[in-house]
Amino acid sequence: MINKGYLTAKTNKESDEVYTPEYAVKPILEYIDKGNKKSYTIWCPFDKEDSNFVKLIREEGHKVICSHIDDGKNFFYYEPEEYYDYIISNPPFSIKDDIIKRLYELDKPYAVLMPLNVLQGQKRFKYLKDIEILVFDKRINYLKDINGKKEIQKGVSFASIYLCRNFLPKELIMKELNIY
Ligand SMILES: C[S@@+](CC[C@H](N)C(=O)[O-])C[C@H]1O[C@@H](n2cnc3c(N)ncnc32)[C@H](O)[C@@H]1O
Repeated sequence: MINKGYLTAKTNKESDEVYTPEYAVKPILEYIDKGNKKSYTIWCPFDKEDSNFVKLIREEGHKVICSHIDDGKNFFYYEPEEYYDYIISNPPFSIKDDIIKRLYELDKPYAVLMPLNVLQGQKRFKYLKDIEILVFDKRINYLKDINGKKEIQKGVSFASIYLCRNFLPKELIMKELNIY
């Protein structure tokens, strides 16, 4: 039998327990507003209240619904009851195939951080139809919780991109990452 335990439980992968620095959230904010509405509703499905996605998207004047597996809201089973416009977050990379499939099935515009190598892979390829990507000149160093304090982990070994669907105005956008 295929082990699908990770769909019901937390992955427990240490590499998944990382947090996104503000400088990596900022570049996606300008693409949220592309219609006539002043304020959109964004679902951040891998986020608690202290997430920089939640904080910075709210600061832009949008409404944020955040959910996290620790609060019993598993992305593979939970979806907000109220209407939302976009999904934006940084999901656990170790289960990226299943996340991309679920995003495809939810069929909502999305922008999620992913490692660059997400672009190739037989299992996920069919769910990557119609994607757009935002590529950076630099790598993103994520934050880790060290004794209750979020600290930057330098020297990350992979590049990150925003994988998007029905979100960016064109298929490929190259952007300089302003690290501060
Ligand atoms: C890469 S971290 C990013 C956290 C936050 N989104 C940020 O960017 O700072 C991914 C988070 O998703 C949580 N997670 C893992 N599996 C999940 C699931 N099935 N549903 C919801 N959250 C999950 C992990 O515990 C982890 O905190």
